[in-house]
Amino acid sequence: MPGLIPENLLEDILSRVDIVEVISGYIPLKKSGRNFKANCPFHHEKTASFMVSAERQIYHCFGCGESGNAFKFLMRHERMEFPEAVEVLAKKTGVILPEQNKPEAARAASLSSQLHKVNELAVSFYENNLHVPGAASACNYLLSRGIKLQTIKEFHLGLATSNWDSLINCLRSKNVPLSLMEQAGLVLPKDAGGFYDRFRNRIIFPIFDIRSRVIGFGARVMDNTLPKYINSPETPIYTKGRNLFGLNLSKDFIRDADCAIIVEGYLDFMVPYQEGVKNIVASQGTALTLEQIKLLKRYTHNVVMIYDGDTAGEIATLRSLDILIEEGVNVKVVPLPKGMDPDSLVRNQGVENFKAKIDNASSLFDYKLNILKGRYDMKDAHGKSKIASEMLLTINKFDNAILRGEYIKKLAEEIKTSEHYVLEELHKLKSPVPARQAAPEISARNKPQINPAEKLLIKFMLEEKELIAKVMQELSPSDFQDSRTAKIVSLMHDLVIQGKNIEPSVLMNYFSEDDANQLVCETMFMPDLLDQEKEKAINDCIARIKVERLKSRRQHLHVQIKNAQSSGDELKLNRLIQEFHNLIKKGD
Ligand code: UTP
Ligand code: MN
Repeated sequence: MPGLIPENLLEDILSRVDIVEVISGYIPLKKSGRNFKANCPFHHEKTASFMVSAERQIYHCFGCGESGNAFKFLMRHERMEFPEAVEVLAKKTGVILPEQNKPEAARAASLSSQLHKVNELAVSFYENNLHVPGAASACNYLLSRGIKLQTIKEFHLGLATSNWDSLINCLRSKNVPLSLMEQAGLVLPKDAGGFYDRFRNRIIFPIFDIRSRVIGFGARVMDNTLPKYINSPETPIYTKGRNLFGLNLSKDFIRDADCAIIVEGYLDFMVPYQEGVKNIVASQGTALTLEQIKLLKRYTHNVVMIYDGDTAGEIATLRSLDILIEEGVNVKVVPLPKGMDPDSLVRNQGVENFKAKIDNASSLFDYKLNILKGRYDMKDAHGKSKIASEMLLTINKFDNAILRGEYIKKLAEEIKTSEHYVLEELHKLKSPVPARQAAPEISARNKPQINPAEKLLIKFMLEEKELIAKVMQELSPSDFQDSRTAKIVSLMHDLVIQGKNIEPSVLMNYFSEDDANQLVCETMFMPDLLDQEKEKAINDCIARIKVERLKSRRQHLHVQIKNAQSSGDELKLNRLIQEFHNLIKKGD
């Protein structure tokens, strides 16, 4: 990774940045001894195993193994490329990246940032289209939907005209290559060769990520033809299920209110937002995905779902409920009458009515039970059992036994049966351990075990630079049996000889693979020893590694001896046997 941006600048940034501040901008960190703790943002978990060290400027998750420094966190969490992460933190810390790096950095500037730029050009183009005299009918359409001019501007709404190539021509005049337009999902190839604009004759809703970069578009017809919306396809910067529409505008309101209102559509977001309900996001149609929920959890653990009053909305709500519960989010639901959605509710009944509905939202239990009551006959035994088994699927998702107990009691009362029977049915379900949680453990188990002495010695060497030379008098990097530990030792040794910094957070700029990184971070969170125990521990580690080295040399000789035997090479055999005896005698 270094090479593109000078090492000393990377170190400079790392020495000024505070990883605790960077990470707590995304997830809440709790002090835990000398470190900070949180639920890992990279895998599903209920007990915090994600650790951040202010002292070492690194993070490590003991659940999934994800670890690194501040650059790596941004790369993983914000899906930035390395140069982009460097740029962000350079700006934050006031480190100036030299001009001569700029062209290089620009070339390396990820495909993502090029796509963001193309999208930005497209936003301006569509926006301009909406503010010319010929676009009166499109403007009127939006006004007739209750969208005010100021809102049109705030959301950068635009218009794609009925031309087949007007965006292409505009972007071409700005020297955007067609391949980039295609990768941004803005144009489509023609069968006969050439390209045409994807969005035509539609209102354009730009979609922004939380950093307010344009990542895609939704495009709505202005009449009732189908499909009603066309959206950007999946691109390197846009996946529908990973984004929440409007979160860039509403995230601070959500954090302040400690609650997010979740709606389905673009307009269901914009109309209430315009009328003052600011802590809102739109899932863009389907049920919430795990990624969307994780994104939201950076800001709040409380949500109110208000999906459309139709069967699709009901199904999407029910599907979302279970994932929300599994993710430990408190959820309430506002059921809407058939044919109504948040947009029409606010426009027809006023925003105060909308707010009142939010204040009186149903518990997820009441909401789901109500839907099931409509589907099955409560008076019939079979109906009751159907209702119970569907309710139990959701109740079982709660991690908290007291909550589960409360809901079971309530369910038994509602369907007029004994709690005992309900419990019996619950026990038939598997224990509520989400499947996802198992994945990282399995992958961790598949990795070969590292000799604890190697791990511990690396920790000591990382903590005490002077120790490296001492250890290297007794051992060489290849004496470390694990390829990861060997790689780390060899790098530390080289850097020390060159008089360079071996701070763990700096060290990991040199590894392109994750496993060496992971190990560096993991050792940093291992418990510390008292000074008086340390020297003995170091000597023990060296001795143990030597024993392993001897073992592996012996094994190696053993194989060589066997080969010499089978090939009948007497001379070589004698030499090898002599070597073998020496090795045993020396015991080194
Ligand atoms: P809705 O049908 O509820 O649309 O779909 P809406 O936002 O309320 O729009 P209006 O009121 O009809 O103008 C909810 C969301 O589902 C996605 C869009 O993100 C939409 O905002 N959707 C819907 C599509 O992607 N494609 C479609 O054809 C329909
Ligand atoms: Mn609608």
